[in-house]
Amino acid sequence: MVLFLSKMEKVMFHLYLLPLLLLACFSPFYVHSMESGTSQCSNVSIPYPFGIVGGNPAPAQGFEIICALSGSGPIIRINNNIFGIINISLLDGFVSILASATSQQCKSNSSFSLEGTNFTFSDTKNKFTAVGCDMVAMLLDDSRGYIGGCASFCSTKSNIINGACSGVACCQAQVPKGLKKLELEFTSITGPGCGEAFIVEQNSYVFSRVDLNKTNTKNPQYRPVVLEWSIDGGYCEEAKRAASYTCKENSYCYNSSNGIGYRCNCTLGFQGNPYLQGPNGCQEWWHGSEAEDVWSGCTAADIQL
Ligand SMILES: *[C@@H]1O[C@H](CO)[C@@H](O)[C@H](O)[C@H]1NC(C)=O
Ligand SMILES: *[C@@H]1O[C@H](CO)[C@@H](O)[C@H](O)[C@H]1NC(C)=O
Ligand SMILES: *[C@@H]1O[C@H](CO)[C@@H](O)[C@H](O)[C@H]1NC(C)=O
Ligand SMILES: *[C@@H]1O[C@H](CO)[C@@H](O)[C@H](O)[C@H]1NC(C)=O
Ligand SMILES: *[C@@H]1O[C@H](CO)[C@@H](O)[C@H](O)[C@H]1NC(C)=O
Ligand SMILES: *[C@@H]1O[C@H](CO)[C@@H](O)[C@H](O)[C@H]1NC(C)=O
Ligand SMILES: *[C@@H]1O[C@H](CO)[C@@H](O)[C@H](O)[C@H]1NC(C)=O
Repeated sequence: MVLFLSKMEKVMFHLYLLPLLLLACFSPFYVHSMESGTSQCSNVSIPYPFGIVGGNPAPAQGFEIICALSGSGPIIRINNNIFGIINISLLDGFVSILASATSQQCKSNSSFSLEGTNFTFSDTKNKFTAVGCDMVAMLLDDSRGYIGGCASFCSTKSNIINGACSGVACCQAQVPKGLKKLELEFTSITGPGCGEAFIVEQNSYVFSRVDLNKTNTKNPQYRPVVLEWSIDGGYCEEAKRAASYTCKENSYCYNSSNGIGYRCNCTLGFQGNPYLQGPNGCQEWWHGSEAEDVWSGCTAADIQL
């Protein structure tokens, strides 16, 4: 399993959580702006449909974030695991988390699942990466067919070069579109081995020979992983007919490119949060908050004229 907390740690986390939730409202790390529909936790902006539990507007279901008092930043619970959030992008539909989305050859049946959540692994921002010698690491889908993977060989130690993930001791492959689950099959080519495979933000992993010795470690490695989020409700055409349709005024709907659901964007010439109605929603740029700030900044001079 890629649970990054042991059972005991989880229990302890729950004991921690309640006071954290109560204190979140008074935390200096949690600045909520009712006007913008965007909260701030530590240095991370949290735009609606994401939101801090207990905040206003209330987060959409599945987009609830906890702002930890310690200043360690925002946390999201996905399928009963808790992850730190690095960054959320509203218009592109990405959320970067710190996770151990890994599977080790020497451990039986590990899995990392986003099933039943509003998230998929981004196929454009991550790479499937495997570290090990003389092995093949293949991703499986539910019908246990191969959907991606790569092979890595090591003939001599001197050929193993730090920084290069090119098929010698380390290999990388595209993440399949719509991937929700890390289910792997490892095959050793020469004798028993211990490889490791994981999903990681494409620019953040640099292979190091030392990592070959860490493929069987009990301590999970946390690495940035980019998830794509979307709103449930099918494709746009279907979603538009439902009462739950989420795209507000001056916005349009587009299909998520990575699986189920849709997202919204402001129509050309408008700016704001397409999931909100009113002044924080999509507004013509010259009526937007930036313009208003400019006006309020120059009223004194204007009045004298
Ligand atoms: C927040 O601060 C941390 C630590 O200084 C930094 O690594 C991270 O990139 C920052 N995140 C954002 C969204 O600015
Ligand atoms: C956060 O995401 C935005 C949009 O994708 C990007 O421009 C920005 O560089 C990211 N910041 C960090 C600290 O990752
Ligand atoms: C691992 O998965 C396979 C196939 O799903 C199953 O037959 C086997 O019993 C599982 N092993 C363990 C230890 O869970
Ligand atoms: C990996 O482990 C082997 C055997 O324990 C050791 O000889 C080797 O120096 C280690 N390599 C690195 C890069 O730490
Ligand atoms: C998030 O996913 C859950 C489970 O599928 C669903 O009930 C919920 O409506 C989704 N949230 C949004 C905003 O689409
Ligand atoms: C969304 O995807 C469906 C199915 O592929 C397609 O029929 C529809 O035209 C797409 N809608 C938009 C707005 O791209
Ligand atoms: C959203 O709209 C902006 C401005 O019209 C555009 O630059 C951007 O590419 C759009 N994003 C998506 C994901 O369609």
